[in-house]
Formats: sequence, structure tokens, C-alpha cells
Amino acid sequence: MRIAVLAEHAPGERRVAGTAETVRKFIALGADVAVEAGAGIGASIADQAYRDAGATVGDRSATLAGADVVLGVQGPDPVTLSGAAPGAWIVASLNPFAERARVDAYAAAGYEALAMEFMPRITRAQSMDILSSQSNLSGYKAVLDGAAEYGRAFPMMMTAAGTISAAKVFVMGVGVAGLQAIATARRLGAQVSATDVRSATKEQIQSLGAKPIFVENVAGIEGEGSGGYAGEMSPEYQAAQAELVTAHIAKQDIVITTALIPGRPAPRLVSAAQVASMKPGSVIVDLAVEQGGNVEGAVAGAVVEVGGVKIVGHRNVPSRLAADASALFARNLFNFLSAFWDKDAGRPVLDAEIGDAIRLTRGGKVVSPRLLETR
Ligand code: NAI
Repeated sequence: MRIAVLAEHAPGERRVAGTAETVRKFIALGADVAVEAGAGIGASIADQAYRDAGATVGDRSATLAGADVVLGVQGPDPVTLSGAAPGAWIVASLNPFAERARVDAYAAAGYEALAMEFMPRITRAQSMDILSSQSNLSGYKAVLDGAAEYGRAFPMMMTAAGTISAAKVFVMGVGVAGLQAIATARRLGAQVSATDVRSATKEQIQSLGAKPIFVENVAGIEGEGSGGYAGEMSPEYQAAQAELVTAHIAKQDIVITTALIPGRPAPRLVSAAQVASMKPGSVIVDLAVEQGGNVEGAVAGAVVEVGGVKIVGHRNVPSRLAADASALFARNLFNFLSAFWDKDAGRPVLDAEIGDAIRLTRGGKVVSPRLLETR
């Protein structure tokens, strides 16, 4: 059983899917591990650290030769995978809806592509959930990115020269990223408020010491869709939410948006008029910018200034914390593969609940129901 850890070649991707720690653990399970030279550099892991952990380090073709399981952060380009064993598993964040052609190519090449972002949100899979581990870091980094662009301090400071008032931070979308953004902004001393469409988040917001800003008494108020995710809201709700947010946003210094709806473009939460209502020097960080953006005027991969308000639209925010993001991502992959390790077979054997949820391709065909529905 041979596991390959590939170097990432997507622009701006600094993470890596295996660390010295997970290499050591895979070897303890009885696997051989090969790592592509330089794979860990962006995450501050030297080739020698992988060697010390027991892996071989070589070029891409040596790494892939005979590999049964190929680990990546993002989906590797199918044309660069030659040499992997027939039917090899490709385990990564495969972005299946946006990268459908790539998924088709994995199928055509006979690989079994396993999309880690399709991991079901069930208790036993929590430690395998890359969306959670990476969103948590994104929420933290969004606040720091906002603070770095903001020309004022976050905490209230009473100095001999006078008092500086606390920054007002508003977090829109209180999933994993939003909760961490609230906690981080609170730790920095900001005055924090937050909103979501799922009413279950109200208590979570309060328990972090922030103020919930919620639409009340409107049809279609319960925004919980399937699997703990948000659904799309009624037009009445959207109008009431826009009105509430308009009044609130004009008084904020920093707005962090994190709202996503699985399989759909991100909901638009902040209009150009609302941006224009903010004070000069205010900062908006749009974590959903790569999924279409929560904020009108946000540009993926750029910090733009509109009427004195900065809109931060960094791509791939977890990669901006590459060492920690890699450590958690690699552990998610190890937790997944080790949970299914079959000692007799000397390799992982998936069960139906998780296997059927994450498997995109098998036997030359696309088999994922979620993907087949969309074509
Ligand atoms: P997400 O990344 O899909 O969305 C982020 C947030 O945006 C969500 O809270 C969502 O309700 C909110 N949102 C969507 N549309 C909105 C709108 N129009 N206005 C305001 N907010 C809007 O969500 P994430 O972070 O992946 O988590 C969703 C839920 O799943 C959470 O309750 C989380 O606790 C739960 N979860 C469960 C896990 C498990 O049981 N294994 C693992 C991870 C998360």
C-alpha cells in the first residue's frame, strides 16, 4: 500500500496534504509514503523532515510510481498523474461542481476520486471535515486581514492623550468561519455583532459575548436547510434582512462576511449602496469572494477601495496560514483513511455512508449522485 503526497501547483497554493506527523502515522499503519520534493516548502516543512519521518522524497513521477492513494490539497491535474496504480484513489478538495471536466478526466483514467468537501456532517466524520478545519482558520485570518487594512486600533484604549473607542465589527454568516471571526475580534477588544439566517446561531453569538442582529416575525424565518447548512431565504425575509442590515452596517467599522449556500452562488448580503453608507476608513472582508461574493464590488484576489471603504477579497485564505492549515488538513486526511484502515487488507476500505457521499468516480464513470443531478 503506497501513499503519495503531491506538491501543489495551483497559483497561490502554499498548503500541503501531508506533514511529517501524518507521514509517520501512515507508516505506523503499515503504508509506504512517498513525498514530492518541495511539497512542504510553502508550509515550512523541509524535505528532510519528511525523510526523517520515514518517507521517500523524489520527483513527481517517482512519487506517483505505483501509488494506491494520492493525497492533494487541491485536485491534481489528471494529465500529471501517470504512474499511479490502476484505480488509485485521488483524495483532495476536488471542487467538483466548478472542476467538472477534471472529475470526468479522473473517471476516464480509471481513478477513484474522493472529494473531501463532500464529507457528511455527522459526528464520527467531524475529525475528517476539511471544510471545518479550513474555515476555522479563515475566520481567524479574516479578522487579522481586516485589522491590517484598518487605520485604527481594535480595543478601547484610555491613554494620557485621550480615549480611543473600540472598533465595531459586524460578522455576517455565523458558521464555522463566522464563529471564529467573532471570537478573534472579541479577543482583539472589538465590540462585535453578528447575524445569520439560522436562528440556532443566536445563542452561539451571545455565548461568545457578541450581539445578535436578527430579523424577527417574518415568513420563512427558519433558514436551516439540510445537514445543518443554510437554505435560500424567502423574498420577504430577504427584504427584512436588507432593511435591518442597512441601518446597522452604516455604524460599523469592520464587516466580515462568510455566508455560503452549498452548491449555489454565495448570497449577496451587502449592496453597493450599503458600502457607500459606511464611514471612510471602514473595511469589509468578503470570505465568500471566490464563490461569487457576499459584497457588491468585491474582487477576488484584490483589495479594492470604494468611496474610502476598503473591500478585501483575498483568495484561498487558509493558504495564508499555510503551516497550520496544512497541519489540520493533513490530519483530516489521516483521520479519514485511518478510520477505515482494514488490517487484513493493509489498506483503507470505505463504508457506504461515507464512501458513497464522497466518491465521485469509480470504474471509469462518474458515480456521485450530487454531481449526476447537476448535469
Ligand atoms: P457555510 O460555510 O455553508 O455558511 C456559512 C454561514 O453562512 C452559515 O452559518 C449559514 O447559515 C450562513 N448564511 C447563509 N446564507 C446567509 C444569509 N443570507 N445571511 C446570513 N447568513 C447566511 O456553513 P459552515 O460554516 O460550513 O457551517 C454550517 C453548519 O454546519 C454550522 O451549524 C456548523 O456548526 C455545522 N457543522 C457541523 C459539522 C458536523 O456535525 N460534523 C461540521 C461542521 C459544521
